[in-house]
Amino acid sequence: MRQTERLSADASGLARAAAILRSGGLVAFPTETVYGLGADATDAEAVARIYAAKERPSFNPLIAHLDSFESAKRQGVFDDTAQKLAEAFWPGPLTLVVPVAPTCTISDLARAGLDSVGLRVPAHPLAHALLQQTARPVAAPSANRSGRVSPTDADHVLGDLDGRIEAVLDGGASPVGVESTIVSCLGGAPRLLRPGGVPREAIEALIGMKLEGGPEAGAKLLAPGMMASHYAPRAQVRLNAVSIGPGEAALLFGAEAPEGTEAARAALNLSKNGDLVEAAAHLFSYLRQLDASGAATIAVSPIPESGLGEAINDRLRRAAAER
Ligand code: TXA
Ligand code: MG
Repeated sequence: MRQTERLSADASGLARAAAILRSGGLVAFPTETVYGLGADATDAEAVARIYAAKERPSFNPLIAHLDSFESAKRQGVFDDTAQKLAEAFWPGPLTLVVPVAPTCTISDLARAGLDSVGLRVPAHPLAHALLQQTARPVAAPSANRSGRVSPTDADHVLGDLDGRIEAVLDGGASPVGVESTIVSCLGGAPRLLRPGGVPREAIEALIGMKLEGGPEAGAKLLAPGMMASHYAPRAQVRLNAVSIGPGEAALLFGAEAPEGTEAARAALNLSKNGDLVEAAAHLFSYLRQLDASGAATIAVSPIPESGLGEAINDRLRRAAAER
């Protein structure tokens, strides 16, 4: 990739950033918490590039950023508590995990295949202007490489991601400096999934009850391999399949069709060209489609461990183990 553009915090910088996002590119942008690494959340290949740029070894669900509560309501279903929280703390450093709405346009990959979605309306004026101009939900994890600390200015972003993303919108230092508080409202009592910019006490005072969960419960839930909420197919998953058994569903990768593919109950190819970004973009929707075929087993072709292959294989190993 070419050198990363540093865009200024003015009308032309914003227009350029929105144009890059709308054409599937990656733009880091300031929010009041930390800088986010943004991509069009409705474009699975753009979202796959986020994971590639970050060298994230697994697909966590990402937060989708919106310009308003009105826009958020098209993506998620807000119960009374979620509505109250959104009205009190948006725009601001709060993320709400809610069930997906029937009108949701956020890609499966950004949601890591879940039926819920993490939504946030940031307060930073540049983030707000960018989201308005982009006019799409923008998926954005913190704009650092995996395992490094979250960036709070454009230099931090470039230190980690120069040459790996199209642009960074330079808005100076992020005022809050810690990530957003994440609360899930999925029916039943709301849960604190991650402490952050909005204090627990402020939330509890507003809703008039204690939040379930806490730093320990949250950390446990979000630790790799422990996210109970991860999408798991109903079918058994058989990895590194070099041939397909009769009646199995086949999740293929690469140009060659394994022996037995003709007799498969259903077959989908993650990427005939062996492109791991394309494969990541298709992963969750193809798993769902093959699961829906009713096959007892989904046989998966070997997938290389390089680049996004590590995250794809991580997810597939969990799908194979979760029984
Ligand atoms: O302040 C922030 O929240 C920053 C800025 C850029 O907005 N973003 C951020 O994103 O911290 P990230 O990807 O580092 O953290 C997203 C967290 C993950 O831990 C993920 O597990 C959780 O949000 N999350 C998102 N959607 C979820 C869902 N549907 N269910 C459970 N957890 C979810
Ligand atoms: Mg992060």
